[in-house]
Amino acid sequence: MPSTRRPDILPLLASVALTIALSAPLAAQRPSKSTKAVPTIQAAAFPDGWPVQMRRPAVIDQHAMVVSNSKLASQAGEEIMKRGGNAVDAAVATGFALAVTYPFAGNIGGGGFMVIRMADGRAAAIDYREVAPLAATRDMYLDANGKLTNKSLVGALAVGVPGAVAGMAQALKEYGTMSLHDVMQPAIRLASQGFAVDSALYRSLNGSKRKLMQFAGSKVFYTNGNAPAPGTILKQPDLARTLTLIANEGPKAFYEGPIADQLVAEMKRDGGIITKQDLAQYKAITRKPIVGTYRGYTLYTMPPSSSGGITMLETLNQLETFPKMPAFGSARYEHLLAETFRRAFVDRNEKLADPAFVKVPVDELTSKAYARKLASTIDPNHATPSPTFNAAAEPMHTTHYSVVDAKGDAVATTTTLNSGYGSGTFVDGAGFFLNDEMDDFAAQPGKPNQFGLVQGDANAIQPGKRMLSAMSPTIVLDRNGKLLMVVGAAGGPTIITAVTEVILNVLDQHMSLADAMYAPRMHEQAWPDVLTYEQNGLSKATMDSLTAMGYVLKPTRGLANVNAILRGPKGWEGVVEPRSTGGAVGY
Ligand code: GLY
Repeated sequence: MPSTRRPDILPLLASVALTIALSAPLAAQRPSKSTKAVPTIQAAAFPDGWPVQMRRPAVIDQHAMVVSNSKLASQAGEEIMKRGGNAVDAAVATGFALAVTYPFAGNIGGGGFMVIRMADGRAAAIDYREVAPLAATRDMYLDANGKLTNKSLVGALAVGVPGAVAGMAQALKEYGTMSLHDVMQPAIRLASQGFAVDSALYRSLNGSKRKLMQFAGSKVFYTNGNAPAPGTILKQPDLARTLTLIANEGPKAFYEGPIADQLVAEMKRDGGIITKQDLAQYKAITRKPIVGTYRGYTLYTMPPSSSGGITMLETLNQLETFPKMPAFGSARYEHLLAETFRRAFVDRNEKLADPAFVKVPVDELTSKAYARKLASTIDPNHATPSPTFNAAAEPMHTTHYSVVDAKGDAVATTTTLNSGYGSGTFVDGAGFFLNDEMDDFAAQPGKPNQFGLVQGDANAIQPGKRMLSAMSPTIVLDRNGKLLMVVGAAGGPTIITAVTEVILNVLDQHMSLADAMYAPRMHEQAWPDVLTYEQNGLSKATMDSLTAMGYVLKPTRGLANVNAILRGPKGWEGVVEPRSTGGAVGY
């Protein structure tokens, strides 16, 4: 790609430039008063070496759009909307289809969050996060010497009580227009008639062989130990039967009927603790979304039991105290992002948890006054140190899909099994994977989990409690209150930073959605105290400046997996994550 110079500051000038940029008394600063309802799109420039082949064009359509990590699942949503369904009908159809075509993270054995905003202004946040089984205990993942085992990650003990079926059914009942039976037909068809395995699914199954071959799913996804070659038609008759039962009998079939029996039998075979009582007691919760503003735009996002909404708004509120954002990719920009994320993640990791168990100060944490206080502690010239822990990999588990219908109803859904294919545990005869969401609790408060997240007592394991999530499904309205953007991501804690960055790229940096998604990402989560960046995503000048300011920089191959829709000048623009697979489908 052609070399484009950006306004990076040289290391020796870093402190001078930063002082000039950030030293105005923060409390006196006010957000810029632009009156434009939508951002004006401008050309974006990225560093030399940023892989141009990753760039993906937007799919543009006039009426409706679905973007997910599986084109077949997006088509399921489109099919439902073409048959007269609204965005919620389509989202539920897409969700069930993902359980068939994207078993890596699409699921009925996991949980998720759905933020809904209807064109008439009604809004909801459906919380169908898993809960800890009633027999769960605070130290259940520690061995006799108090050492953390891997049982929160692999096998039946890692499984939280699944919420996906209850949550999708609840969203449909409260905001959909079609029956569960009808919206599930595309998923049932994909499971019973099969679909052609693509190279991404082949690679994914091949890469997870060691884990999955230990469980009953090996019979479905491997032949003689080999993943199905691309082009193979993959049929899942057990899953088709399970989905048909749910479609015909409703969520009761899953939580109290024959599927519950199969799930509990699987628990007993593999040392799990979920009982029929756990399943029968499970409830999805319809909550009020967190609503916040950023420079005149309005955001609808997820309240606890996700940390996503609060952490994102806390960051955006701090950024809003700076009248103008520095240029994308400059050291000043990365510093501002890192310091605001750092402060928001400190609160996240210490204060946020299931609100049924812990009093979460939502109003305070998302207030503009609190953000001004936090932002005033940012040193313009230096990184603020956090205590150090060992860094962990940043995997791209979970999956997000965005839907908009012809009326302007919007749905942002993020759903997960936690790790890819969850705990690996597969309900034999019922055809689906079970999550390892128990690892999202602080299995040992103060020690890092698989994402390197260090969390406190608030998120310790308790029976019936929802484990804290980072999922951040978000809907953005323009300055006139009209639907502008539907966005969310996969990737553990990097969800929060990536969703925030894509939003900032569009609103502040005036990028097209395609560029906003393609743009290099960074991540800062306070602990471990490293600024993670995508390889080749920062210029040498920016890296030198950041190092001089005290940052420890850590390169990584890719951060998060975002799927988004934007109302552009020519219609709905759908963009699939350039770092992953999937499809944007509209009409
Ligand atoms: N399992 C990842 C999350 O919920 O944040």
